Amino acid sequence: MNLLSLFKQPDVVVQDKPFLRWTGGKNWLIPTIKKIVNKIEFNNYHEPFIGGGSVFFSLKTNKKSFISDSNNELINCYRAVKKNPKKILKILSRYKQTEEQYYSLRNEKNGNEFIKAARFIHLNKTSFNGIYRVNLKGEYNVPYGKKNYDFNLLSKLIHSASQQLKNTNVNNSDFNESISNICQGDLVYLDPPYTITHNNNGFVKYNEKLFSYDDQLQLSKFIREIRSKGAYYILSNAHHPEVKKIYNQFNDNVYSLTRGSVIGGNLKSRGKYEEYLFTNII
Ligand SMILES: C[S@@+](CC[C@H](N)C(=O)[O-])C[C@H]1O[C@@H](n2cnc3c(N)ncnc32)[C@H](O)[C@@H]1O
Repeated sequence: MNLLSLFKQPDVVVQDKPFLRWTGGKNWLIPTIKKIVNKIEFNNYHEPFIGGGSVFFSLKTNKKSFISDSNNELINCYRAVKKNPKKILKILSRYKQTEEQYYSLRNEKNGNEFIKAARFIHLNKTSFNGIYRVNLKGEYNVPYGKKNYDFNLLSKLIHSASQQLKNTNVNNSDFNESISNICQGDLVYLDPPYTITHNNNGFVKYNEKLFSYDDQLQLSKFIREIRSKGAYYILSNAHHPEVKKIYNQFNDNVYSLTRGSVIGGNLKSRGKYEEYLFTNII
């Protein structure tokens, strides 16, 4: 790693990739989402379940944006990256990519916002599958994933993210709270936790807080409000009859999507629909 590069102002080239790994990340849906978004001119952009932000970063929009999530560590990380990417990279550069380092950071709780953000990023990059999971006490408990990351690439992505976050309002909140920011002509991308299993009607635990059937109903009310404000929405959700029943009430466009050959090795899933996209963009 070139330590000097940490201290000089880099020429930031805005990237279209996120700097975090995130469960339920929507990389594979991006070409479809971009095709839909390209049909409209919109004002502000909103993403109230931001997670790793694969859609937000891929759009590279220069519009004023509002992103939020109920995960406070994730939101602290975005805020710190927005404020001072160099400070975070300086801390990250001191961490070794080893199992010992992983577990010692996992046990650490203290530190300022930048130390917490660096720790969050390092754990995310080297954990098992980049999952974010906490125990009943709210403590992050994902095991080491024997993963390494390329520091230079991460540095490029973090500087780029910082640039993209400049014109972005970043909030730690439940999705319901973001309604007041949404105005006529805005675009809202909604990617709630994937709580419905494919093979039964059960709901699976995803995060600290379960995104329940009632939350799905609440989200459909939220969409009703978006529509009545004259804003655009795109919702991605599990390809499940219950989901269709909840969100089809608006008679908007529905896309059934499959990763098709993108799923390597998992023959059982190949060719099976995985995701619905609902949108009032025609
Ligand atoms: C499927 S992930 C989003 C993934 C994201 N689209 C990406 O590409 O990485 C869902 C996110 O919703 C957040 N979440 C769960 N319940 C929420 C709620 N009630 N309000 C806001 N965010 C919530 C989770 O913390 C998680 O980051």
